[in-house]
Amino acid sequence: MKFSNTLIYWYLQNDRDLPWRKTKNPYHVWLSEIILQQTRVAQGLPYFLKFMEAFSTVFDLAKAEENTVLKLWQGLGYYSRARNLHFTAKFVANELNGTFPDNYKDLLKLKGIGDYTASAISSICFNEAAAVVDGNVYRVLARYFGIKTAINSSKGVKEFKALAQTLIDPKQPGTFNQAIMDFGALHCKPQNPLCETCPFADSCVAFDKKLIKDLPVKEKKLKVKKRFFNYLVVITDDNKTILSERKGKGIWQGLYQFPLLETKNNIDEKELVNHPEFIDLFKEETTISLFNQKEIIHKLSHQHLNTRFWIVKIKKHQEAKIEWKQVKEFPVPVLIANFLKENQS
Ligand code: ADE
Repeated sequence: MKFSNTLIYWYLQNDRDLPWRKTKNPYHVWLSEIILQQTRVAQGLPYFLKFMEAFSTVFDLAKAEENTVLKLWQGLGYYSRARNLHFTAKFVANELNGTFPDNYKDLLKLKGIGDYTASAISSICFNEAAAVVDGNVYRVLARYFGIKTAINSSKGVKEFKALAQTLIDPKQPGTFNQAIMDFGALHCKPQNPLCETCPFADSCVAFDKKLIKDLPVKEKKLKVKKRFFNYLVVITDDNKTILSERKGKGIWQGLYQFPLLETKNNIDEKELVNHPEFIDLFKEETTISLFNQKEIIHKLSHQHLNTRFWIVKIKKHQEAKIEWKQVKEFPVPVLIANFLKENQS
Protein backbone atom coordinates (compact mmCIF):
# COMPACT_ATOMS: atom_id res chain seq x y z
CA MET A 1 0.00 0.00 0.00
CA LYS A 2 2.97 2.29 0.50
CA PHE A 3 3.41 2.96 -3.21
CA SER A 4 -0.23 3.81 -3.72
CA ASN A 5 -0.45 5.97 -0.56
CA THR A 6 2.62 8.00 -1.50
CA LEU A 7 1.33 8.41 -5.04
CA ILE A 8 -2.14 9.52 -4.07
CA TYR A 9 -0.72 11.92 -1.47
CA TRP A 10 1.39 13.48 -4.24
CA TYR A 11 -1.66 13.66 -6.53
CA LEU A 12 -3.82 15.42 -4.00
CA GLN A 13 -1.30 18.24 -3.99
CA ASN A 14 -0.50 18.29 -7.71
CA ASP A 15 -3.45 17.13 -9.78
CA ARG A 16 -4.38 19.09 -12.84
CA ASP A 17 -7.63 20.94 -13.04
CA LEU A 18 -9.20 19.29 -16.07
CA PRO A 19 -12.84 19.47 -17.14
CA TRP A 20 -13.28 15.69 -17.52
CA ARG A 21 -12.16 15.26 -13.92
CA LYS A 22 -15.14 17.21 -12.63
CA THR A 23 -17.51 14.43 -13.63
CA LYS A 24 -17.99 10.70 -13.65
CA ASN A 25 -20.07 10.86 -16.79
CA PRO A 26 -18.69 8.03 -18.96
CA TYR A 27 -19.39 9.94 -22.17
CA HIS A 28 -17.08 12.76 -21.06
CA VAL A 29 -14.44 10.40 -19.72
CA TRP A 30 -14.54 8.21 -22.84
CA LEU A 31 -14.21 11.21 -25.14
CA SER A 32 -11.29 12.63 -23.15
CA GLU A 33 -9.47 9.30 -23.03
CA ILE A 34 -9.80 8.73 -26.79
CA ILE A 35 -8.46 12.23 -27.46
CA LEU A 36 -5.63 11.79 -24.94
CA GLN A 37 -4.44 8.67 -26.71
CA GLN A 38 -3.62 10.94 -29.63
CA THR A 39 -2.00 13.84 -27.88
CA ARG A 40 -0.85 15.36 -24.60
CA VAL A 41 -3.24 16.93 -22.13
CA ALA A 42 -2.39 20.54 -23.09
CA GLN A 43 -3.03 19.91 -26.81
CA GLY A 44 -6.01 17.63 -26.18
CA LEU A 45 -7.92 20.03 -23.97
CA PRO A 46 -9.14 22.40 -26.75
CA TYR A 47 -10.30 19.38 -28.78
CA PHE A 48 -12.25 18.07 -25.81
CA LEU A 49 -13.91 21.47 -25.32
CA LYS A 50 -14.77 21.75 -29.04
CA PHE A 51 -16.33 18.29 -29.05
CA MET A 52 -18.32 19.03 -25.89
CA GLU A 53 -19.60 22.25 -27.34
CA ALA A 54 -20.66 20.60 -30.59
CA PHE A 55 -21.97 17.36 -29.05
CA SER A 56 -22.91 17.71 -25.43
CA THR A 57 -24.38 14.19 -25.23
CA VAL A 58 -23.65 10.87 -26.88
CA PHE A 59 -26.92 11.28 -28.83
CA ASP A 60 -25.63 14.50 -30.39
CA LEU A 61 -22.42 12.83 -31.46
CA ALA A 62 -24.36 9.86 -32.82
CA LYS A 63 -26.55 12.14 -34.95
CA ALA A 64 -23.61 14.05 -36.43
CA GLU A 65 -22.43 13.61 -40.00
CA GLU A 66 -19.14 11.72 -40.17
CA ASN A 67 -17.54 14.66 -41.97
CA THR A 68 -18.38 16.99 -39.09
CA VAL A 69 -16.73 14.61 -36.64
CA LEU A 70 -13.65 14.25 -38.83
CA LYS A 71 -13.43 18.01 -39.24
CA LEU A 72 -13.44 18.54 -35.45
CA TRP A 73 -10.82 15.80 -35.13
CA GLN A 74 -8.63 17.49 -37.73
CA GLY A 75 -5.06 17.90 -36.57
CA LEU A 76 -5.12 14.95 -34.18
CA GLY A 77 -4.30 12.45 -36.91
CA TYR A 78 -5.06 8.72 -37.01
CA TYR A 79 -8.57 9.25 -38.36
CA SER A 80 -9.71 5.69 -37.73
CA ARG A 81 -9.92 6.71 -34.05
CA ALA A 82 -12.43 9.41 -34.97
CA ARG A 83 -14.43 6.97 -37.12
CA ASN A 84 -14.49 4.43 -34.29
CA LEU A 85 -15.54 7.17 -31.90
CA HIS A 86 -18.47 8.02 -34.13
CA PHE A 87 -19.37 4.36 -34.66
CA THR A 88 -19.39 3.68 -30.92
CA ALA A 89 -21.42 6.81 -30.20
CA LYS A 90 -24.07 5.54 -32.65
CA PHE A 91 -23.97 2.09 -31.06
CA VAL A 92 -24.33 3.44 -27.52
CA ALA A 93 -27.07 5.89 -28.52
CA ASN A 94 -29.08 3.53 -30.70
CA GLU A 95 -28.49 0.08 -29.24
CA LEU A 96 -27.84 0.85 -25.58
CA ASN A 97 -30.27 3.75 -25.12
CA GLY A 98 -27.39 6.10 -24.51
CA THR A 99 -26.02 4.19 -21.52
CA PHE A 100 -22.39 3.13 -21.57
CA PRO A 101 -21.56 -0.35 -20.19
CA ASP A 102 -20.60 -0.02 -16.53
CA ASN A 103 -17.74 -2.51 -16.36
CA TYR A 104 -14.36 -3.28 -17.94
CA LYS A 105 -15.42 -6.49 -19.69
CA ASP A 106 -18.39 -4.98 -21.51
CA LEU A 107 -16.63 -1.72 -22.31
CA LEU A 108 -13.92 -3.74 -24.02
CA LYS A 109 -16.51 -5.01 -26.51
CA LEU A 110 -17.04 -1.54 -27.95
CA LYS A 111 -15.24 -0.56 -31.11
CA GLY A 112 -12.15 1.57 -30.47
CA ILE A 113 -12.03 0.65 -26.79
CA GLY A 114 -9.05 -1.46 -25.82
CA ASP A 115 -7.52 -2.44 -22.52
CA TYR A 116 -6.36 1.09 -21.74
CA THR A 117 -9.66 2.88 -22.39
CA ALA A 118 -11.79 0.18 -20.75
CA SER A 119 -9.59 0.36 -17.65
CA ALA A 120 -9.71 4.15 -17.56
CA ILE A 121 -13.50 4.41 -17.92
CA SER A 122 -14.35 1.52 -15.58
CA SER A 123 -12.02 2.77 -12.85
CA ILE A 124 -12.84 6.48 -13.10
CA CYS A 125 -16.59 6.17 -13.61
CA PHE A 126 -17.49 2.89 -11.95
CA ASN A 127 -14.79 2.33 -9.30
CA GLU A 128 -13.60 -0.92 -10.84
CA ALA A 129 -10.03 -1.88 -9.92
CA ALA A 130 -8.71 -2.07 -13.48
CA ALA A 131 -5.19 -0.67 -13.80
CA VAL A 132 -4.33 1.55 -16.76
CA VAL A 133 -0.94 1.20 -18.36
CA ASP A 134 0.02 4.00 -20.73
CA GLY A 135 3.45 5.38 -21.62
CA ASN A 136 3.63 7.33 -18.37
CA VAL A 137 2.77 4.30 -16.26
CA TYR A 138 5.40 2.16 -18.01
CA ARG A 139 8.03 4.76 -17.20
CA VAL A 140 7.09 5.19 -13.53
CA LEU A 141 6.95 1.46 -12.86
CA ALA A 142 10.07 0.56 -14.85
CA ARG A 143 12.07 3.14 -12.91
CA TYR A 144 10.62 2.62 -9.47
CA PHE A 145 10.95 -1.17 -9.60
CA GLY A 146 14.05 -1.24 -11.82
CA ILE A 147 12.37 -3.41 -14.47
CA LYS A 148 14.38 -4.04 -17.61
CA THR A 149 11.80 -5.98 -19.61
CA ALA A 150 11.10 -4.13 -22.86
CA ILE A 151 7.82 -2.26 -22.57
CA ASN A 152 6.96 -2.91 -26.21
CA SER A 153 7.43 -6.68 -25.98
CA SER A 154 4.46 -8.96 -25.32
CA LYS A 155 6.21 -10.18 -22.16
CA GLY A 156 6.61 -6.57 -21.00
CA VAL A 157 2.99 -5.68 -21.71
CA LYS A 158 1.81 -8.59 -19.55
CA GLU A 159 4.35 -7.99 -16.80
CA PHE A 160 3.62 -4.29 -16.38
CA LYS A 161 -0.14 -4.78 -16.51
CA ALA A 162 0.06 -7.46 -13.82
CA LEU A 163 2.28 -5.29 -11.65
CA ALA A 164 0.02 -2.23 -11.99
CA GLN A 165 -2.90 -4.45 -11.08
CA THR A 166 -1.21 -5.44 -7.79
CA LEU A 167 -0.55 -1.78 -6.92
CA ILE A 168 -3.90 -0.21 -7.69
CA ASP A 169 -5.84 1.04 -4.68
CA PRO A 170 -9.14 -0.89 -4.82
CA LYS A 171 -10.87 1.79 -2.75
CA GLN A 172 -10.03 4.55 -5.20
CA PRO A 173 -8.92 2.96 -8.48
CA GLY A 174 -9.81 5.95 -10.64
CA THR A 175 -7.78 8.29 -8.47
CA PHE A 176 -4.85 5.86 -8.44
CA ASN A 177 -4.90 5.54 -12.24
CA GLN A 178 -5.04 9.26 -12.87
CA ALA A 179 -2.42 9.86 -10.19
CA ILE A 180 0.12 7.51 -11.74
CA MET A 181 -0.45 8.97 -15.21
CA ASP A 182 -0.08 12.52 -13.89
CA PHE A 183 2.97 11.59 -11.87
CA GLY A 184 4.61 10.23 -15.02
CA ALA A 185 3.61 13.24 -17.09
CA LEU A 186 4.60 15.93 -14.58
CA HIS A 187 7.25 14.49 -12.24
CA CYS A 188 8.81 11.26 -13.47
CA LYS A 189 9.25 12.81 -16.93
CA PRO A 190 11.10 11.11 -19.79
CA GLN A 191 13.82 13.77 -19.79
CA ASN A 192 15.01 15.61 -16.69
CA PRO A 193 12.74 13.92 -14.16
CA LEU A 194 12.46 15.73 -10.84
CA CYS A 195 14.33 13.13 -8.78
CA GLU A 196 15.63 15.69 -6.29
CA THR A 197 12.14 16.42 -5.05
CA CYS A 198 10.66 12.98 -5.64
CA PRO A 199 8.51 11.44 -2.91
CA PHE A 200 9.81 8.02 -4.01
CA ALA A 201 13.51 8.94 -3.91
CA ASP A 202 14.23 6.70 -0.92
CA SER A 203 12.82 3.58 -2.54
CA CYS A 204 13.19 4.07 -6.32
CA VAL A 205 15.48 1.37 -7.75
CA ALA A 206 16.48 3.38 -10.82
CA PHE A 207 17.38 6.40 -8.71
CA ASP A 208 19.40 4.25 -6.33
CA LYS A 209 21.26 2.44 -9.12
CA LYS A 210 21.61 5.46 -11.42
CA LEU A 211 19.46 3.82 -14.07
CA ILE A 212 17.01 6.67 -14.60
CA LYS A 213 18.28 7.38 -18.12
CA ASP A 214 18.25 3.67 -19.05
CA LEU A 215 14.67 2.93 -18.07
CA PRO A 216 12.23 2.09 -19.42
CA VAL A 217 13.75 -0.22 -22.01
CA LYS A 218 12.24 -0.23 -25.47
CA GLU A 219 13.00 -2.92 -27.99
CA LYS A 220 14.19 -1.57 -31.31
CA LYS A 221 11.79 -2.91 -33.88
CA LEU A 222 13.64 -3.70 -37.05
CA LYS A 223 12.32 -1.79 -39.99
CA VAL A 224 10.41 -3.95 -42.39
CA LYS A 225 11.94 -3.89 -45.81
CA LYS A 226 9.64 -3.85 -48.81
CA ARG A 227 10.85 -5.89 -51.77
CA PHE A 228 9.29 -6.38 -55.17
CA PHE A 229 9.47 -9.84 -56.69
CA ASN A 230 8.50 -10.72 -60.24
CA TYR A 231 8.51 -14.44 -60.88
CA LEU A 232 8.68 -15.39 -64.54
CA VAL A 233 6.63 -18.52 -65.04
CA VAL A 234 7.80 -19.74 -68.42
CA ILE A 235 5.56 -22.05 -70.41
CA THR A 236 6.86 -23.37 -73.69
CA ASP A 237 4.80 -24.85 -76.49
CA ASP A 238 5.76 -28.32 -75.31
CA ASN A 239 4.75 -27.47 -71.72
CA LYS A 240 8.13 -27.03 -70.14
CA THR A 241 9.28 -24.43 -67.67
CA ILE A 242 12.40 -23.03 -66.03
CA LEU A 243 13.03 -23.86 -62.40
CA SER A 244 16.32 -23.42 -60.62
CA GLU A 245 17.70 -23.89 -57.17
CA ARG A 246 18.18 -20.84 -54.97
CA LYS A 247 21.82 -20.45 -54.21
CA GLY A 248 23.52 -18.56 -51.43
CA LYS A 249 22.52 -18.20 -47.81
CA GLY A 250 19.01 -17.34 -46.76
CA ILE A 251 15.81 -18.95 -45.66
CA TRP A 252 15.06 -20.29 -49.11
CA GLN A 253 18.45 -21.82 -49.73
CA GLY A 254 18.09 -25.12 -51.57
CA LEU A 255 14.52 -24.48 -52.61
CA TYR A 256 13.51 -24.12 -56.25
CA GLN A 257 12.02 -21.10 -57.93
CA PHE A 258 11.02 -19.65 -61.26
CA PRO A 259 13.41 -17.07 -62.68
CA LEU A 260 13.13 -14.10 -60.33
CA LEU A 261 13.39 -10.51 -61.34
CA GLU A 262 13.61 -8.20 -58.36
CA THR A 263 12.76 -4.56 -58.96
CA LYS A 264 12.73 -1.37 -56.90
CA ASN A 265 8.98 -0.91 -57.31
CA ASN A 266 6.02 -2.60 -58.88
CA ILE A 267 6.46 -2.67 -62.63
CA ASP A 268 4.07 -3.02 -65.54
CA GLU A 269 4.36 -5.28 -68.56
CA LYS A 270 6.21 -2.71 -70.63
CA GLU A 271 8.82 -2.18 -67.94
CA LEU A 272 9.14 -5.92 -67.55
CA VAL A 273 9.91 -6.67 -71.19
CA ASN A 274 12.40 -3.79 -71.33
CA HIS A 275 14.23 -4.91 -68.20
CA PRO A 276 17.84 -5.94 -69.05
CA GLU A 277 17.52 -9.26 -67.22
CA PHE A 278 14.36 -10.07 -69.14
CA ILE A 279 15.99 -9.19 -72.46
CA ASP A 280 18.94 -11.35 -71.46
CA LEU A 281 16.80 -14.35 -70.69
CA PHE A 282 14.40 -14.24 -73.62
CA LYS A 283 15.71 -13.85 -77.13
CA GLU A 284 12.60 -15.10 -78.87
CA GLU A 285 9.13 -13.65 -78.99
CA THR A 286 7.06 -13.97 -75.82
CA THR A 287 3.45 -13.46 -74.82
CA ILE A 288 3.07 -12.07 -71.35
CA SER A 289 0.17 -12.11 -68.95
CA LEU A 290 -0.04 -11.23 -65.33
CA PHE A 291 -1.31 -14.13 -63.24
CA ASN A 292 -2.26 -12.08 -60.20
CA GLN A 293 -3.47 -8.54 -60.89
CA LYS A 294 -3.29 -7.80 -57.21
CA GLU A 295 0.16 -8.37 -55.84
CA ILE A 296 0.61 -11.02 -53.20
CA ILE A 297 2.26 -9.67 -50.08
CA HIS A 298 4.24 -12.41 -48.44
CA LYS A 299 5.25 -11.34 -44.95
CA LEU A 300 8.49 -12.50 -43.43
CA SER A 301 9.78 -11.24 -40.11
CA HIS A 302 11.80 -8.35 -41.52
CA GLN A 303 10.63 -8.05 -45.06
CA HIS A 304 7.46 -7.92 -47.06
CA LEU A 305 7.72 -9.52 -50.46
CA ASN A 306 5.35 -7.84 -52.89
CA THR A 307 5.05 -10.53 -55.45
CA ARG A 308 3.72 -10.91 -58.96
CA PHE A 309 3.70 -13.98 -61.11
CA TRP A 310 4.10 -13.26 -64.81
CA ILE A 311 3.16 -16.02 -67.24
CA VAL A 312 5.65 -15.94 -70.11
CA LYS A 313 4.56 -18.02 -73.07
CA ILE A 314 7.32 -18.82 -75.55
CA LYS A 315 7.79 -21.34 -78.33
CA LYS A 316 10.87 -22.95 -76.87
CA HIS A 317 13.68 -22.07 -74.51
CA GLN A 318 16.91 -23.94 -74.01
CA GLU A 319 16.74 -23.61 -70.22
CA ALA A 320 13.16 -24.82 -70.01
CA LYS A 321 13.84 -28.41 -69.08
CA ILE A 322 11.24 -29.17 -66.43
CA GLU A 323 7.94 -30.65 -67.49
CA TRP A 324 5.13 -28.46 -66.14
CA LYS A 325 3.54 -31.60 -64.63
CA GLN A 326 6.67 -32.25 -62.58
CA VAL A 327 6.91 -28.83 -61.00
CA LYS A 328 4.90 -29.92 -57.98
CA GLU A 329 7.57 -32.48 -57.10
CA PHE A 330 10.18 -29.82 -56.39
CA PRO A 331 10.61 -28.22 -52.97
CA VAL A 332 9.58 -24.61 -53.35
CA PRO A 333 8.97 -21.66 -50.98
CA VAL A 334 5.40 -21.39 -49.66
CA LEU A 335 4.92 -18.30 -51.77
CA ILE A 336 5.40 -20.38 -54.94
CA ALA A 337 3.55 -23.39 -53.55
CA ASN A 338 0.47 -21.18 -53.05
CA PHE A 339 0.72 -19.96 -56.60
CA LEU A 340 0.97 -23.54 -57.90
CA LYS A 341 -2.05 -24.60 -55.85
CA GLU A 342 -4.14 -21.88 -57.46
CA ASN A 343 -2.74 -22.53 -60.89
CA GLN A 344 -3.41 -26.25 -60.95
CA SER A 345 -7.15 -25.98 -60.75
N1 ADE B 1 -3.59 10.71 -19.90
C1 ADE B 1 -4.64 10.13 -20.49
N2 ADE B 1 -5.70 10.10 -19.69
C2 ADE B 1 -5.31 10.67 -18.55
C3 ADE B 1 -5.96 10.93 -17.33
N3 ADE B 1 -7.22 10.57 -17.15
N4 ADE B 1 -5.24 11.49 -16.37
C4 ADE B 1 -3.97 11.84 -16.59
N5 ADE B 1 -3.32 11.65 -17.70
C5 ADE B 1 -3.98 11.07 -18.69
